[in-house]
This record gives sequence, structure tokens and C-alpha cells, in this order.
Amino acid sequence: MDPQLLEKALQAAATSGRLPKAIIVVDVLGQCADYDRIVEIARRYEVPVIEDAAEALGATYKNQPAGSFGDIACFSFNGNKIITTSGGGMLVCDNKDWADRARYLATQAREPAPHYEHVEVGYNYRLSNLLAAVGRGQLSVLDDRVNRKREIFDRYLHEVGGLPGITMMPEPTGYRSTRWLTAMQVDESQFGANREDIRLALEARNIESRPVWKPMHQQPVFQSCVAHTNGVSDRLFTRGLCLPSGSAMTDEQQSQVIETIIACR
Ligand SMILES: Cc1ncc(COP(=O)(O)O)c(C=O)c1O
Repeated sequence: MDPQLLEKALQAAATSGRLPKAIIVVDVLGQCADYDRIVEIARRYEVPVIEDAAEALGATYKNQPAGSFGDIACFSFNGNKIITTSGGGMLVCDNKDWADRARYLATQAREPAPHYEHVEVGYNYRLSNLLAAVGRGQLSVLDDRVNRKREIFDRYLHEVGGLPGITMMPEPTGYRSTRWLTAMQVDESQFGANREDIRLALEARNIESRPVWKPMHQQPVFQSCVAHTNGVSDRLFTRGLCLPSGSAMTDEQQSQVIETIIACR
């Protein structure tokens, strides 16, 4: 989230007398957003921040862990995440009333009665004890996983990051990313092939890669929604590619990815 665009959006919302109930900030591809600026703006407009740290468990921003910046934060333990319980996730906050409210809604909004009594519609969003136990086991390997992801990124950086037209996702000073997915941008005029050429060349070798996240304002489902953009996310979507980054990937498999990219030039 671009703090300048956030400010613009909140200004416009305040002028029309309809501030949002919350700002959902995503720590994209395992790297925290710029919370010093975002939280300062959000506080000024008195709008709560929800941090989506699904991809960023184990990341830090100015030595503070991902998931500690919003009024509420969430993590995902889906199968493709840094650590997994096969499915499910976790909500964290330091406001007891909100935590109790979330527990209530996640537990079918049951009232304290011997029968099932509902004054509100709730959800069945609990993480089972069994999955929570798996999660606790996985926590012990979190650092190893992050280190391995970073090692994979570093090798890509070293072997393809210097090619003309390739830009690896930067990690600004003060940020430590999980490098959940290694992402790069491809400038066709310099590289001689575009993002899609590389993706298809990898696919031809049965190697899956993906464009970076499609911006929300380009999603058909949100076509009618107001968007505050400056072209950066559109450009990243056109040029950006997420490379295979699984922590279980072998060096040999990574070599195949690297060779295929280099051969596209
Ligand atoms: C940023 C982000 N938010 C939310 C989710 C959804 O998490 P879950 O699959 O656990 O619902 C994902 C990916 O799965 C994600 O990458």
C-alpha cells in the first residue's frame, strides 16, 4: 500500500463523509508495508488498521515482527505458506474485547446457554486442537524456513538479478522479508523477452511460475469500486513474475529454473 495513495483515499473519503471502517494492509510476498507512515495516516483519520500478514510470518519491519502493526492482524497457515497446518490461520490483536468478539463470532456466535442460542449469525472458523498442535510443531522450524526462502532468493539474485532488464524485488533498509515468493520484474526492451515468454518457457519444462498478484482494481469483481492508483501496481502486474520458491526445492531444481530464464534472453 502506497502511503501517499492512502492519504489521498482517506482525504476523499473524509470529504464525502464516509471514512472506511478499516484499512486492510497486505504484507505482500512476505515483506511488511511501510507501517510508520501508514499507521500515522490511519491514526490521523481514526481508522483502524488490519494487517494481512498471511505471507509474512517471520518478517520484520524496523526490528518489529509482521503481525504487530495493525490494530488486528491475521496469519495464514494454508498449505502454501511459510509454515502450515494444512489450512486455517490466526487472528492476533492486543484488545481483549476485540479478541473476545472474534472468538465469539468464530465459535458460531453461541450464547452462554445450555442449548444452542443465537442472537447473531456466527461462523465455524475454529482451528482444531489437532491443527493447532501441528502449528506449534511448525513454529520451531519457522526460522529455518525463512532462512531457506531467503537463500533461494539470494541465489536467484546472484544468478539472474544482474541480467539486463531483470530487477529483483528490493528489500529496503529496515525491512527483513520472508521472501515467501521470489518476485522479479522483466523489462522486455532490455531483456529481449517478456514476463510471459519466461513463464511459458518454464511451463514447457513443467515448472510453475506465476504473474505477481493482479491489482484489486483490475479484478472484474471490483470493477465498480473506487480506486486510487498511480500505475505502479499495473506495471508490476505486467512485468512481474513469481519464481518457484518452495523451501523444499532442491539446488538442481533451482538450477533448471535459472537456466530456463537465461535461455529466454
Ligand atoms: C496476503 C494473503 N491474504 C490472505 C490469504 C488467504 O489465506 P487463507 O488461504 O489461509 O484463507 C492469502 C493466501 O492464501 C494471502 O496470500
